Amino acid sequence: MRKKIVAGNWKMNKNLQEGIALATELNEALAADKPNCDVVICTPFIHLAKVSEVIDHSVIGLGAENCADKEKGAYTGEVSAEMVKSTGAEYVILGHSERREYYKETPEILKEKVLLALANGLKVIFCIGESLAEREANKQNEVVKAELEGSVFNLSAEDFGKIVIAYEPIWAIGTGKTATSEQAEEIHSYIRSVIADKYGKEVAENTSILYGGSCKASNAPELFAKPDIDGGLIGGASLKCADFKGIIDAWK
Ligand code: PGA
Repeated sequence: MRKKIVAGNWKMNKNLQEGIALATELNEALAADKPNCDVVICTPFIHLAKVSEVIDHSVIGLGAENCADKEKGAYTGEVSAEMVKSTGAEYVILGHSERREYYKETPEILKEKVLLALANGLKVIFCIGESLAEREANKQNEVVKAELEGSVFNLSAEDFGKIVIAYEPIWAIGTGKTATSEQAEEIHSYIRSVIADKYGKEVAENTSILYGGSCKASNAPELFAKPDIDGGLIGGASLKCADFKGIIDAWK
């Protein structure tokens, strides 16, 4: 059975002290009230080592929001997958639309990042999703299929098993505009069918596909009730413990 997951993506928010405080608060909240799903927090690089010390990794997984497309060496300012792993992190988000758009990360670059992440024992939360213009032109299926083919369908079935997919329609990220649960289910089911065509039904059935884009405690239960939605990748609502916990509790 595939995993139910609620993952937070802090993005470029929280200084070190604020980040440690949030992680500590969440750790306490989940120790007192055990979640019914896997919980992951993905933080800026500078938080990872400290946050790793304050969380119970059997309850909360830790992830980075990015890693380098090079193994090591003279790449000023970059952080390698090996460095991420050495902090105690287990996950890395790759392919987020903000990285693709603002930092010009291409499918080729992302393919390299995915390979390095996996080679260093990290699980990858790989993001895909269409823009508003692509949705209006009814191209969303084409777009998500191409994103999978461009960066992760080169993997063996075994390695693909270490990938979590996050479907995030760009028009719903940070906009307050959520895809309806029907819209989300339709494309999640399509994504699963594309994975089944490539890797077979068993791999597809075991792949967790998260929804992201203005997911919050009020809409999470309806989204998570859909058969092909296995949880969420949460931006804004992961920045306050009570909001994030509210989404985690949608699995109860
Ligand atoms: P949001 O972001 O929840 O703030 O819309 C989601 C994401 O970008 O991962």
